[in-house]
Amino acid sequence: MGARVKNCFFIKIKCFICVQCCDRGFLMGGFYDKICSEIQREMEKYLNQILTGDCIDVMRNIPDASVDAVFADSPYNLQLGAKTLYRPEDQTAARAVRDAWDAFDSPAAYDEFTRQWLTECKRVLKPDGAMWVIGSYHNIFRVGAILQDLGFWILNDIVWVKTNPMPNFRGTRFTNAHETLIWATPRKTGKYTFNYETMKRLNGGKQMRSDWNINICLGEERVKDKNGKSLHNTQKPMDLLRRVILASTKAGDVILDPFLGSGTTAAAAKELGRNFIGIEREESYVAAARARVDAVQPIDLSEIEVANPKRDEVRVAFKELIEAGLLYVGQTLVSPRGERVMITRDGQLAHSLHGKASIHVMAARLQHCVSFNGWDYWSAEKRDGTLVPIDELRSYVRNVKRSIKQAA
Ligand SMILES: C[S@@+](CC[C@H](N)C(=O)[O-])C[C@H]1O[C@@H](n2cnc3c(N)ncnc32)[C@H](O)[C@@H]1O
Repeated sequence: MGARVKNCFFIKIKCFICVQCCDRGFLMGGFYDKICSEIQREMEKYLNQILTGDCIDVMRNIPDASVDAVFADSPYNLQLGAKTLYRPEDQTAARAVRDAWDAFDSPAAYDEFTRQWLTECKRVLKPDGAMWVIGSYHNIFRVGAILQDLGFWILNDIVWVKTNPMPNFRGTRFTNAHETLIWATPRKTGKYTFNYETMKRLNGGKQMRSDWNINICLGEERVKDKNGKSLHNTQKPMDLLRRVILASTKAGDVILDPFLGSGTTAAAAKELGRNFIGIEREESYVAAARARVDAVQPIDLSEIEVANPKRDEVRVAFKELIEAGLLYVGQTLVSPRGERVMITRDGQLAHSLHGKASIHVMAARLQHCVSFNGWDYWSAEKRDGTLVPIDELRSYVRNVKRSIKQAA
């Protein structure tokens, strides 16, 4: 049975029953419920847990396409020398990241590690999920290139402007006053979540920009060790995670942090009514993060999140793509598996064996499942033979309709 475990076409998650169903050609009565409960049981092992271990090993056990967002604050590979820096005013030692978890033998070793953990993130993310990575000039360019090599689609790079950065004590360079966050989706045509109206509300009614002014984490907010000292050198501010989560996830979504550290992502997720999965290698951080998260209470989001954003109201029917001249009757649509269908006069699809049906029903028929989102399945073949996903064409029509609506 183990060798038969595959991704379910229907819900895109590893499942024991699914392959049997697909072999039989249909998800028959009761099977679908069994599949759902199987996946739910599998995910319950991970939901709202902080797991100790190497993130690549731990992620390998998490089902495919099962998380809505990943926030990754991976090692920076700072490669700082042994020399301690002292503050000029009082000669106290400045905090710097020299921890073992940040050391790699070479840039190539760092790149290989990055490729491996990002590959696992892509596998566990839902196709419309959000991938967030934060880093500094030491690593973010390498991480960004690997992210693109793996097929992620970058949506924005956010500059986290540190309103109270550490000075450059020696006066040899500019004050390093920002870090970069990359926001990406696993595929170009992903229908990712962006809570535009909530962001606008948070920004006093103005469109939220890609430069975020947020204090570095200091004072009360810093998690302390048993001697009352700051536990983690790179603890991120809650306000940064709050914004990431409110921008790109919905209540009840699952957010994975493979490098949890002091637990900031898990704490913010719980506070904002989201689920989390945290992974951290160092036991002392795991213990502190668990205690931190236990103390968090979810807050009332009614004054923060905007319900039913206007953006969701714009619907596009397949026929409108033909009416807009983006598709034509008789044109061929091609599936990811190379199946070919033809657009009919009444805005349906015709297949030589499977008759006539809507884009959704035809996609489901060809995959032997109950229902399927046809927007994610078909690409239009242009006259020169190139393919364009119909979802891209739909986005175009949707934007035009939205602009008309806003102008009216
Ligand atoms: C930059 S810190 C994350 C800090 C965190 N965002 C916070 O707010 O506290 C990176 C963390 O990843 C952990 N780490 C490094 N390599 C790891 C690996 N392979 N698997 C799991 N955790 C790892 C380190 O122990 C460290 O706590």
